[in-house]
Amino acid sequence: MGIRISPSVLNSDLANLAGEVRRIAATADWVHLDVMDNHFVPNLTFGLPVVESLLSHIDTPADCHLMIDDPGRWDPAYAEAGAGSVTFHVEAARNPAKVARDIRAAGARAGIALNPGTPIDAIAEAIEHVDMILVMTVEPGFGGQAFRADVLPKVRQARDLADAADVDIWVQVDGGVDLGTIEECAAAGADTFVAGSAVFRAEDPAEMVELLRAAAENAARP
Ligand code: DX5
Ligand code: ZN
Repeated sequence: MGIRISPSVLNSDLANLAGEVRRIAATADWVHLDVMDNHFVPNLTFGLPVVESLLSHIDTPADCHLMIDDPGRWDPAYAEAGAGSVTFHVEAARNPAKVARDIRAAGARAGIALNPGTPIDAIAEAIEHVDMILVMTVEPGFGGQAFRADVLPKVRQARDLADAADVDIWVQVDGGVDLGTIEECAAAGADTFVAGSAVFRAEDPAEMVELLRAAAENAARP
């Protein structure tokens, strides 16, 4: 199973986004971009114009995590702008299967995210249209929160769902992932790891990505 590390820039120097992405470019597989609308979550970050502009300055593939209402209205545009992966929240989507199909049709991998309190059954109908399941390990909205180990059983359920599918579905965890928690996520079946504060508060962010990767590889399910 491949391991992917996707650092989140949420807690980085946001006025210097392209420069921050370059600090992880040598080792990161993706860069995770947290779009928030102050409706779906109680925080506001950046939107399509900033992501479009950033993409013209970086080579690292973009993993956009849209914490917004009405994702059907916006998500495909991030794919058209060149994001390699676009994830929406199942809680926000009226028709999750359609949102996922539209993201794919616009040229990106489609991800579906679940808040800590949302059961895995919520994605049953959309599963055949997605390329990634994002299991949130904090309530979405802010970086730097404590990891929720109570969500690990759902990571296992997501892994089982992914393994049963015909296509290669990635299982991503996001929130509180660091050197102290990444191993239990990998052991539960996650293969794609978002880490914000752990990476950008490290003295050498690119080196921290490699440390996280090694820890995940050691603990990954065979
Ligand atoms: C939270 C965001 C996460 C966050 C992760 O709503 O979706 O991507 O930036 O940050 P850390 O790793 O600090 O929890
Ligand atoms: Zn995120």
